[in-house]
Amino acid sequence: MKIVLVNGSPKPAKSNSGFLLAALEPLVAEGNELVSLRVNPKPLLPSQVEELCSADAIVLAFPLYVDAIPSQLMSVLVEVEALRRRDSSKRVRVYALINNGFYEGQQSRIAVDILRHWCDRCGFQFGMAVGQGAGEMLGSMEKVPLGHGPLKNLGKAMEKLAAAIRRGDSAESVHIQPNFPRIAWRLAAVHGFWHPTAKKNGLKKKDLLRRF
Ligand SMILES: Cc1cc2nc3c(=O)[nH]c(=O)nc-3n(C[C@H](O)[C@H](O)[C@H](O)COP(=O)(O)O)c2cc1C
Repeated sequence: MKIVLVNGSPKPAKSNSGFLLAALEPLVAEGNELVSLRVNPKPLLPSQVEELCSADAIVLAFPLYVDAIPSQLMSVLVEVEALRRRDSSKRVRVYALINNGFYEGQQSRIAVDILRHWCDRCGFQFGMAVGQGAGEMLGSMEKVPLGHGPLKNLGKAMEKLAAAIRRGDSAESVHIQPNFPRIAWRLAAVHGFWHPTAKKNGLKKKDLLRRF
């Protein structure tokens, strides 16, 4: 089976979407041909969009942007739809690995609906999605084995996704949080990211709360 893995993060280098794809790859590699594409730093070539449509399974990994899909990936989806309008004979199943900044993985439910509608328009089968909350935490979890500690829920979700991909089947989507208290995530985000970022940009803490 040919599986095309697409990193849809607008970040040009290290991304949480890349982390999720790297975790999935070993679970689906055996006996399958894996092709990796990314929408950044350069847009996909027409030949890469064709390659995407030649897959048996497509895995779209992307961050949630304003409850939806980042524009760089959206452009690819529009191009794929145009290609499929000309020829939709190939049976393709689409899976998604979405990560979002808020703690709750449920945030990505609307993006999953968008993907389902896109699948219908393209004549693709929708496989399943994993929606991971607190995505920005993943970058610091490289040494944590999948299925352990804060990545316990992600381990289970990845197993379910990989099993569906290997069977060439669909399964119910899952939306998860890391196994880490919400309050600790919030404090880490405020004190470890928002306040230092404000300072770096010449702003005070109170400026972050200002209403325009
Ligand atoms: C322009 C923009 C819009 C975003 N919108 C949302 C959002 O609606 N909900 C959310 O939970 N996170 C949102 N985020 C946070 C990203 O989803 C989060 O940082 C993610 O982990 C980035 O993943 P990546 O490293 O794969 O690009 C947004 C981030 C940016 C830059």
